[in-house]
Amino acid sequence: MYTHLQLRDSARPPVTLSTLANMKATGEKIACLTCYDASFAALVDEADTDIALVGDSLGMVIQGHDTTVPVTMDQMVYHCKAVARGLSRPFLMADLPFMSYPSKDIALTNSVRLMQEGGAKMVKLESGAGQAAIVEFLSSHDIAVCAHLGLRPQSVHKTGGFRVQGREEEAAARMIRDAKDLESAGADLLLLECVPTALGKAITEAVRVPVIGIGAGPHVDGQVLVLYDVLDITTGRKPRFVRNFMEGAGNNLQALKNYVQAVKKGEYPAPEHNF
Ligand code: KIV
Repeated sequence: MYTHLQLRDSARPPVTLSTLANMKATGEKIACLTCYDASFAALVDEADTDIALVGDSLGMVIQGHDTTVPVTMDQMVYHCKAVARGLSRPFLMADLPFMSYPSKDIALTNSVRLMQEGGAKMVKLESGAGQAAIVEFLSSHDIAVCAHLGLRPQSVHKTGGFRVQGREEEAAARMIRDAKDLESAGADLLLLECVPTALGKAITEAVRVPVIGIGAGPHVDGQVLVLYDVLDITTGRKPRFVRNFMEGAGNNLQALKNYVQAVKKGEYPAPEHNF
């Protein structure tokens, strides 16, 4: 049964890499949300989100850890399966968690698990120049890859904490180089976390693939936020880029729709969310 052909003709065809490339080309902003279970996945879908990310942020917002470091492959696969059951239109991306890609072969094995067991269509890994060989290897096996640059939460113990990255000229130039190298290695998407607005713009203009930002300013091709931040479920002090979309929404679905619309119209992020 050619389900993909049937779905392509439906009123809400599934988002693919070609859809995302077209969106970059036409200037339509890409709306992405993290998601960790089937019930929220159904809402994320109904809100017309383009990409659902099973983020290893689940270590913090679901499991209550301080960082994403304790998250395991088995846990990622478990949550990915649940999210996949709730989705029909959004493109499903899943994080390779801490130390699940220390070598090409292990990265391949774990990416295959996210795709075959979890139902993911793309894997994301936190990448500097050092991961280009892994991106190239996964890509050579026709695995869609998103490279996560800027603040890389899996490295916080090494880099000294959750801080804006690329403020200094040299660090910014290195990140632009890394972005181009990762694109050349085969990355299909870049995710940019916590960088100054000017750097978000420079990277977006330097590469052909779509760039999704979180705290990376308004000039990137799309935005991602942690679902629990959008729904104001997260307690305590929040990062500068977070906006509470429950305000004035009345219910969860409306809050998610308001987020997607705010991204599409360029109303989010506003100047107060940027670095
Ligand atoms: O794990 C995650 O939720 C992420 C987002 C912060 C983009 O990578």
